[in-house]
This record gives sequence, C-alpha cells and structure tokens, in this order.
Amino acid sequence: MSISATGLPSLNGLPTAVKIVEVGPRDGLQNEALPIDTATKIDFITKLAEAGLPEVEASSFVSPKAIPQLGDAVAVFQQLPQRLGTVFSALVPNSKGLERAIQAGVKRIAVFTAASESFTKRNINMSIQDSLDTFAPVVKDAHAAGMSVRGYVSTAFVCPYEGKIAKEKVREVTENLLAMGVDEVSLGDTIGAATPKDVVETVGYVLQTVPKDKIALHFHDTYGTALANVLTGLQLGIAKFDSSAGGLGGCPYAPGASGNLATEDLVYMLNGMGIQTGVDLNKVADASLVIEKQLGKTLPSKQLQRIKASRAARASAAP
Ligand code: COA
Ligand code: ZN
Repeated sequence: MSISATGLPSLNGLPTAVKIVEVGPRDGLQNEALPIDTATKIDFITKLAEAGLPEVEASSFVSPKAIPQLGDAVAVFQQLPQRLGTVFSALVPNSKGLERAIQAGVKRIAVFTAASESFTKRNINMSIQDSLDTFAPVVKDAHAAGMSVRGYVSTAFVCPYEGKIAKEKVREVTENLLAMGVDEVSLGDTIGAATPKDVVETVGYVLQTVPKDKIALHFHDTYGTALANVLTGLQLGIAKFDSSAGGLGGCPYAPGASGNLATEDLVYMLNGMGIQTGVDLNKVADASLVIEKQLGKTLPSKQLQRIKASRAARASAAP
C-alpha cells in the first residue's frame, strides 16, 4: 500500500487490468475422485469460455495412471468450442505427453516442476534437474510445432514435505524455465499455506531479476489467505493470476491442499477495485454449477454460494 499526497493510504499504482488463467478443468478436476464424463467437462469448459476467461487450462496429457480423471484429454481437446476467443491449454510432463497434445491439436502447453525436491519426486517421479532436462526438448519441440509454452513452479512458498522453501531456489528454477523459452512462469502456492509476507519475500526476490510480465501467481485457499496474497501480488505489480471456478481443486500429491482460489471470488474483488478482467462473474457461476451438480457437493467459493442464494431467493419471490 502506498501513501497518497493527502497522507491517506492509497491503492493507486496497481495494475489496471488482470489476466485470469482458469485452471478448474485441470487443477480442479484432477483432485476429484468421482469420474466426470467428457460431455460434462465440455459443457463446463464452454461455459467458462462464454464467461470471457481469456485462457482455460482444459486438461493434462500426463499418465492416466497418475491422474485417471484426465485420461480423456485427447477427447476433450477434440471437442472444445473454437469460436469464443479463449486459449485452451494443457499440462505436459514429458515427450510422450507432447506427442498426445500435438495429436489433439493443442496450441498452448504448460510444463511443470517445483521448487521442492520431495514434492517433484512424488508428483512427477523426477528430481528438479531431471524435470528441467526432460522439459528442454519438450519446449523446443512444442515451439517447432507452433505451440506456446507456460512453466509452473509448484510449492514455490511452502512444501508439504519440506516446509518453507528458499526464495533462491524459486528464482533459480524460474530462471531455468525462462532460459528454456517458456513465455511465463506461474509460481504456485500448492498447499495454500503462504501469507502476504511469503509473497513479498519470494516474489519480490524473483522480481529483482525477472520482469513482472513473465510471472503469474497461483494461489490455493487452504488457510484462507489466497485473496490477501493476490492483493500483495498486485502491489508487487503482478497482473496474471490463476484461479479455479467454484474454488474446485487441490493437489493429489499435496495432502491437505483444499481448493484453489475461486475464480468468482477473485473476479468480485478485482471488479470492486476497478481492475478489469473481462470476466462475467455470473457466467462463471453458471459454469461452476455444472460441476457442483455432478459432484453432488457444495463448492467453496463464497461468491458462488452468494449467487446461488440470491437466485434461490429471487425464484421463491417470483409469483
Ligand atoms: N501420457 C500418457 N502415458 C504416459 C505419459 C504421458 N504423458 N508419460 C508416461 N506414460 C506412461 C508410460 O507409457 C508408462 O506406461 P506403461 O506402464 O503402460 O508402460 C507409464 O506411464 C509410466 O511411465 P514412466 O515414463 O516410467 O513414468 P513414471 O512412472 O516415472 O511417471 C509421469 C512419470 C510424469 C509420467 C507421471 O508421474 C505423471 O504423469 N505425473 C503427473 C502428475 C500430475 O499431473 N500432477 C498434478 C499436477 S500438479
Ligand atoms: Zn494448483
């Protein structure tokens, strides 16, 4: 927070527009044990695109043994709506995944590693260095195939196995990914344990050598700090945030990780702050309701539950 000329606290100087990367169909669904059929996923993703989300991470080309829920990635990509101007992306862990993504006509992929050795080993069965060695040819071949590539650094703040992560490691892995040619790196608070102090320390340190527009932030809301962390990111000049419709999500390799930051809650806060996203809050809720119904449980987004309650009140008040 800066201090204005009047001496009062001011939020001036924050980014005026933010890009939201919707990760619900991937980060959200990968954590749900109940299988969701491909047609429901397509309905969910189409509604997210209709809500104006500029980028939707639609699935993962990982081993179906590791993540059975996303085993239909090829079928999902073959049926995505193409007319809405949304970019659809997918996770790719290795060259086998890239082959499948090329086959499915994917235009944007994300490679993913972490800043913690233990987490990387459990998540993708590689050391951090092995993961970088695996990605280098994947990124090169993806570019040759006309794709763009994002990078993820999971457990960038706190690791479920190793505790607090050194900011130096986060910067090193981020720089390695950028040197490989990824166009941005999303720093993930995979278990949702970070506080604004962690964000200032780690992201502030990364930004000493990495341009702001190369960084996105990916918060989970396990401990209820995700929006506070977003505000801190905004104050550091970051203008790209990942979120998940309804707050769907978690991580199967991060015990106790609850939902991602909910897209609805993020959009509400940014709208209220006059920061443009191009995203329609009510339409995101329509998308979330498709999945909430299928899963048969209440999703954690506060805005989604508020919207549902106000729709129900209006319906019961109608003659
Ligand atoms: N797509 C489909 N199948 C794949 C694959 C891919 N991208 N990569 C590997 N496989 C298959 C292999 O063909 C092999 O199959 P087989 O047992 O029938 O021969 C099996 O998976 C094991 O392959 P291997 O190369 O030995 O990998 P591994 O067992 O060391 O697993 C990963 C490594 C990266 C493939 C696996 O850990 C994975 O997919 N992890 C993803 C985790 C994830 O998505 N986490 C959430 C994101 S935060
Ligand atoms: Zn996540």
